[in-house]
Order: sequence, then C-alpha cells, then structure tokens
Amino acid sequence: MNKTILVTGANGQLGTVLTQSLQHTYGRGNVIASDLKLSERYHGIFEVIDATNSERLEEVVRKYKINEIYHLAAILSASGEKAPLNTWDVNMQALLNVLEVSRMNHVEKVFFPSSIAVFGDAAPQENTPNNAFLNPLTSYGISKAAGENWGNYYFAKYGLDVRSLRYPGVIGYQSKAGGGTTDYAVDIYHKAIKEEPFSCFLDENTTLPMIFIDDAIRATLELMDAPRENIKIRTSYNISGTSFSPVEIVASIRNKYPKFMVTYVLDYRQDIASKWPKTIQDAEAKRDWGWKPQYDLDSITAVMIKKLKEKYKIATP
Ligand code: NAD
Ligand code: SER
Repeated sequence: MNKTILVTGANGQLGTVLTQSLQHTYGRGNVIASDLKLSERYHGIFEVIDATNSERLEEVVRKYKINEIYHLAAILSASGEKAPLNTWDVNMQALLNVLEVSRMNHVEKVFFPSSIAVFGDAAPQENTPNNAFLNPLTSYGISKAAGENWGNYYFAKYGLDVRSLRYPGVIGYQSKAGGGTTDYAVDIYHKAIKEEPFSCFLDENTTLPMIFIDDAIRATLELMDAPRENIKIRTSYNISGTSFSPVEIVASIRNKYPKFMVTYVLDYRQDIASKWPKTIQDAEAKRDWGWKPQYDLDSITAVMIKKLKEKYKIATP
C-alpha cells in the first residue's frame, strides 16, 4: 500500500531534514509537511497545523488520507522551563490529538520522539539503561515520559503502531537547533567556522549524549521500517550516538581552528544538563532493530565544518 505521511513540527531542526528524507524515499506528493507557520523552504506540500488543534489536524489527515504520522512538534527543554505549564499543555495536547486522530482515522503508524530528558537524578548517569527509573526534572522531560506511556497505552489498548526513540542531543548543519539544552553543540560550530568567539552556557566538563543528524534520521527510519513484531518496547528506545563535554568538542574543533576562543558563562541550562545521563546504553535498540551509530565526535566535526563552510560560502585555503 502507498504511504501518505504527515510530519508535524516540520520546520524544526529535525523536521526539515526528516521531511526531505521522507520525500526522497516516498515521493514529494506523499509527504505533507506541517508546522505553525508556512515554510517557503519546502518544495512539496505544506499545511499550516497547530497540533494542539484537533479539528485542524483531523481535517488534514482526512484530506490526504494520511496513514503515517511523524509527530515532531514540541517545545524543547530550555524554552520549556520559561513557561512550564504551557510546555505541558502544548506537548501533551498535541500528542493526545495525534494519537486520538490516528485511532479514529485509520492511521497505521505514529512516530513520537522522546528524549534523554525523561531521565532525572535517580537514573545512573553512566550507561543509563532503557528501563532506568524515570524522574524527569523539567516540564519537557515530564511531558516526554508521560507521552511515552500514552504511546504504549494506545498500542496496548487500540493496536495503534506507535514507535518512539529517546534522542540524545541532535547535531546537524542543515538547520539551527530550537530551544534545547544541547543546542550549544550546534551553535559552537557556526561560531568556529566564522572565526568568532563562543560563549558556552554549560560547564566545560558537562558530558552529554549526542547524535549526528544523519544517525538520528537513519535511526528513525530504521525503527519505522522494522517489522511490527520486532518492536518489543512500546514506550521508547534508548539510542546512543556519542558522548562528549564542551571541552572535548572545543578540542576537536581546535584541530582545525587552533585559535578558536571559548568562554564559559553558565546559566539555568547547566542545572538541566547536570541531571541528564552522560552516556546511554542502547542494547534493546541493537537487539530489536539492529541500531548502530556511525558518527563519533571527530567525524561530526569534520562534516559540520565542511558543510557549514559551504553554507556560509567560506573558501577553504
Ligand atoms: P525544534 O524546536 O527545532 O522544532 C520543533 C517544531 O515544532 C518547530 O518548528 C515549532 O514551530 C513546532 N511546533 C511547536 N509547537 C507546535 C504546535 N503546537 N503545533 C505545530 N507545530 C509546533 O525541535 P527539533 O529539535 O526539531 O525536535 C523535534 C522533536 O524531536 C521534538 O519533539 C523534540 O522534543 C524531539 N527531540 C529533539 C532533540 C534534539 O536534540 N533536537 C532531542 C530529543 C528529542
Ligand atoms: N536536545 C533536547 C533538548 O536539549 C533533548 O531533548 O531539549
């Protein structure tokens, strides 16, 4: 059967890249991008949808006979702490709308991105296992932990094929990061290649799990393509990419830009990051659908520098 896919939050860091990848695989006419505002960046079909508006979501699902939804729309961790109750309202209402509209309109599969933010200070910070105790300490993390359980509920009760990954911090060159605690690891490359100093809001030794965008997109597509019976975890899968601290990413960048200047001016995001895992254990993702990351820190740095130089039209001497 032909797939007709809806992506919510398609203008975001992951959405811009995932939508293009889905268009490439399934054809532009079969992928409907959506977000709060029209984006001129897509060559394809775009619908304005506020995912908290269930009627509008349902209208688009029916119009295109959607059978798969990638529900990316959300407010992320750092932005989320500025208005915690609004973050809960938006993230939960949007997800519940997606699940309920899917159930009522024959949507077969839903992708829901969760996050390392579901873990709090009760989980081991090294090699955090999939089934570690969840005590998220941000509104965003609470909404993701609850969302994972709602996905599991819709699968168990209605058979809706909901699949989910706990993404680490995503690093990519195609789009800017949007309101997350891990954003520094994207912004730092933009400064480095423009040969400008960088002010880092995390302590130099704060290690966090990260993943290159190509690995994150590939993980998403591999999870969604896996046979239904292979998906043993219906809350969310841990996936690992690599892990590093600010001082390590700076060292990696200085291999190319030895004069790169960094200062550390910590803010409230340090408190968020300090409670998150440092490294992730992803044995279940490996076992169930063959997950294997391809990028480490130095290979991420190499691609980020090359692609951002092309983007900013900076010549290589
Ligand atoms: P982003 O902030 O770059 O993009 C989110 C998009 O959602 C934005 O374009 C925004 O306009 C849209 N949006 C917000 N509220 C909306 C609403 N009510 N209706 C419709 N659209 C709305 O985020 P991202 O980095 O692309 O993340 C995508 C998803 O992946 C999110 O669910 C996020 O929680 C998850 N995730 C991201 C990371 C990461 O490091 N980027 C890590 C873990 C999980
Ligand atoms: N990268 C995301 C954030 O920092 C994690 O979900 O919010």
